[in-house]
Amino acid sequence: MNIVVVGSINTDLITISDKFPKIGETITGNDFTTLPGGKGANQAVGAAKLGTEVLFVGCVGNDSNGELSLNNFKNENVNTDYVKKIDGVPSGIAQITVAEGDNSIIVVSGANNEVTKELVKNNLSAFDNAKIVLLQLEIPLETVEYVTEVCNERGIKVILNPAPAVDLDLELIEKVDYLTPNEIELEMIFNDSMENVLKQYPNKVIMTSGDKGVYYHNGDSIVNVPGFKVDVVDTTGAGDSFNGALAYGLFNNFNLKKAIEIANLVASKTVQKIGAQTAMPYLEDLELER
Ligand code: RIB
Repeated sequence: MNIVVVGSINTDLITISDKFPKIGETITGNDFTTLPGGKGANQAVGAAKLGTEVLFVGCVGNDSNGELSLNNFKNENVNTDYVKKIDGVPSGIAQITVAEGDNSIIVVSGANNEVTKELVKNNLSAFDNAKIVLLQLEIPLETVEYVTEVCNERGIKVILNPAPAVDLDLELIEKVDYLTPNEIELEMIFNDSMENVLKQYPNKVIMTSGDKGVYYHNGDSIVNVPGFKVDVVDTTGAGDSFNGALAYGLFNNFNLKKAIEIANLVASKTVQKIGAQTAMPYLEDLELER
């Protein structure tokens, strides 16, 4: 069995600066680096680094950024049999500025827009060994809806990380097994209080809240699984590492609370280094501290 991630692949172009420029202002940054990213790819690598078998469904352009991402997948043992190289479109990129203890990101989707319903329909064998499918919203929404239906038909569990935030059909939320918004995404999707939403979707809506940890309703009451207080270097990919690790925990049949605890620990590691995938811990890095 494996975890299948259907999602985005980006190359992150990261500038490190003391401050964000104002509109129209030019400033000098401190450092620049190019690292593999993309919410889907980050979640896949996060789960693979914990030792899970992971297969990716997605697209890159026929260019050097696409090669970088594919090589990184191979190095981290993510199966790329269902990653398609598309001629004539660039691979996805994210222009990231890390400054003032925070970040700002502009994504240019490129080949991620080619992860269409048709592409998935023509590659349904990708799901033959899936126990859990992990989805985010950097590919067309129609594809996310279609994959969810395929998973429902086949009895495969679906985790949907609704990032970046878009208006979501409540019908889709009924069909997924876990929805993992942050506070802003929860507000945008449901337009209701956290208490009401969590109560309405017990053991399903898992809301992340930075270093305050995670909130969900266990059927009786709201549970807070506290986060770890660490020195934050870069929050890029923290949410993705949380989702990858949550999938790892559920894949290994940990109960929900335990899976969230591990995911919190993984996210706390990720924020202590620059970058997304490269900052995520391996299983050994976690065991050292237990
Ligand atoms: O969640 C972080 C990711 O968002 C980055 O790696 C960037 O590529 C954007 O997709």
